[in-house]
Amino acid sequence: MTSAISVSELTKKFGEFTAVNRISFDVEVGEIFGFLGPNGAGKTTTTRMLTGISSPTEGRAQILGHEIHSFAAKERMGVVTDLSNVYNDLSAWDNLIFTAKLYGLNRRKREEKAAELLDLFGLTEVQDNNVREFSGGMKRRLTIAMALVNDADVLFLDEPTTALDVQSVKMIRNLILHLNETGTTIFLTTHNMAEANELCSRIAIINQGLIGAIGTPENLKLAMDKMHSVEVAFDRIPETLVSDLNQLSSVREVQKRGDKYKIFTLTPAETLKELFTFSQATNLELMSVNTLGPSLEDVFLELTGQEIVHRGESQTRMHRRNNGGGR
Ligand SMILES: Nc1ncnc2c1ncn2[C@@H]1O[C@H](COP(=O)(O)OP(=O)(O)OP(=O)(O)O)[C@@H](O)[C@H]1O
Ligand SMILES: [Mg+2]
Repeated sequence: MTSAISVSELTKKFGEFTAVNRISFDVEVGEIFGFLGPNGAGKTTTTRMLTGISSPTEGRAQILGHEIHSFAAKERMGVVTDLSNVYNDLSAWDNLIFTAKLYGLNRRKREEKAAELLDLFGLTEVQDNNVREFSGGMKRRLTIAMALVNDADVLFLDEPTTALDVQSVKMIRNLILHLNETGTTIFLTTHNMAEANELCSRIAIINQGLIGAIGTPENLKLAMDKMHSVEVAFDRIPETLVSDLNQLSSVREVQKRGDKYKIFTLTPAETLKELFTFSQATNLELMSVNTLGPSLEDVFLELTGQEIVHRGESQTRMHRRNNGGGR
């Protein structure tokens, strides 16, 4: 069966700088495919290439078997960019009608589609209001609705929930699931692991323009479970501190971070108990204790053996921690 999205050696350079570096992957029809990565990883650049907004420097990609720049590909896809493309001076209704005109729908179809999408996205009541008065969440819903005017089979969403309130995030995630259940293949970029876990059938993790890992949410969840940690600081630092902490039965690994120690554990509550006992037994005073959820950086390192380096930071920090995983 033809893939919804097929990507081969796709590359984007800006001058000397390689923003996306020979990435290859396939997204099957019916999937919600997550494209997860930190700031500057290349998510938007990839989305812009796949939706024909910018040209690849090298490589190729197809949407449902059609080359990305073809009319046939454009006809089958919808895109929600990270910048909202709604017209603030128009009403929600007029925004949808305007978009439908661009797609060449006749008047009856335009009005039918606008009414259907306003209903689906819970915007019927405010359809005549100027978009300028909309909340961020309402605007984002309208943007997604506009991307669906042409009955897109493949929908690209670039960070659809970023900077929204909890209520709007929930609503948009439910809409994404609903659209997928009714047949839309979804390509979703996010830097939020929980979101990728909740929504996606498969997740690619991108770092510095390269795909470090592709897997199911289960793989990601397993890695996340391993990456809970407790960060502590003591009033004194005996030479044997790291090895002593490693002796505690709930501790998986100890890393020194400045004057603090990051203790990885599967059971943070157990580790906390052990730390208090340890502190009493050794007369070391606990100056600070924080339990931390898994960070994208820790999970990426666990999955690939590589560190996420935020672009702009020194590249010399890149190192392979172990031989496990990796490309
Ligand atoms: N037009 C451009 N010219 C030069 N460099 C660019 C351009 N667009 C993006 N970049 C660079 O390419 C890299 C990838 O950017 P991109 O916007 O794709 O990242 P991203 O993963 O979407 O990040 P974010 O989570 O911040 O949205 C960044 O280092 C960025 O500065
Ligand atoms: Mg982006």
